[in-house]
Amino acid sequence: MLLKDKIAVVTGAGNGIGKSIADLFLENGAKVVGLDIVDCASDNPDLTMLKVNVSDFNDCQRVVEEIFKLYDHVDVLVNCAGITRDAMTKKMTEEQFDQVISVNLKGVWNLTKMIGPAMQERGYGSIISISSVVGIYGNIGQSNYAATKAGVIGMTKSWAKEFARKGENVRVNAVAPGYTMTNMMKTVPEDLLNKFKGLTMLGRLAEPIEIANAVLFLASDMSSYITGEVLNVNGGMRL
Ligand SMILES: NC(=O)c1ccc[n+]([C@@H]2O[C@H](COP(=O)([O-])OP(=O)(O)OC[C@H]3O[C@@H](n4cnc5c(N)ncnc54)[C@H](O)[C@@H]3O)[C@@H](O)[C@H]2O)c1
Repeated sequence: MLLKDKIAVVTGAGNGIGKSIADLFLENGAKVVGLDIVDCASDNPDLTMLKVNVSDFNDCQRVVEEIFKLYDHVDVLVNCAGITRDAMTKKMTEEQFDQVISVNLKGVWNLTKMIGPAMQERGYGSIISISSVVGIYGNIGQSNYAATKAGVIGMTKSWAKEFARKGENVRVNAVAPGYTMTNMMKTVPEDLLNKFKGLTMLGRLAEPIEIANAVLFLASDMSSYITGEVLNVNGGMRL
């Protein structure tokens, strides 16, 4: 019960890694508000699912107001919602570039801007944003995605300084997963998935729960002296 009675907000909680994080947080005693762009129902009284487009500033303001009506504070924010729109840069459209920036980068900024200062005021909080192995090593056909995932690391390090600058116990970290078996991987051809497996020391892709476990560690007081860090969870992958 590492998050007993903690209030956690998880974006992208409808599917994949975000869903796994929300489920694991619930198992560990948290009350979770899951945010997603698709409608998601919940029959668990400790899980409230709300619909929002994280890239839309006004929509985020609306949903954050709703969260603060449900709970008077937030202990943990996980920025997990993300998309890919892959193409070689020569063929990538401006729309593909802008879409990925607006969800993966601006979406993370929107929620953190609206929840981080409240944590700072209260003097307690943990913010975890999901970066990627691609934000560290880059990848062919993912210049837009790599920019956002490297950007998440830059924002994480800035916020770690900003939100604790007067000694507040607000920690800000990123998790950089390797390739993980979710819907996001469905468009990746089998031969490429096998190549990615071969690039890891463990010889396999990650399961969502393996990423969620790392996020739980950073969310909980188990990591009380860790901030401004990027935790690589990639099976020893080198791209
Ligand atoms: N799967 C991987 O291999 C992998 C590797 C490294 C990092 N990541 C990152 O992990 C995170 C989760 O990815 P995943 O694999 O679980 O993907 P996924 O597609 O399974 O889940 C993403 C979730 O985000 C939601 N979402 C998308 N756009 C949104 C928006 N504008 N507003 C609110 N919600 C939105 C989707 O509806 C979905 O439920 C992403 O940030 C992704 O970039 C994934």
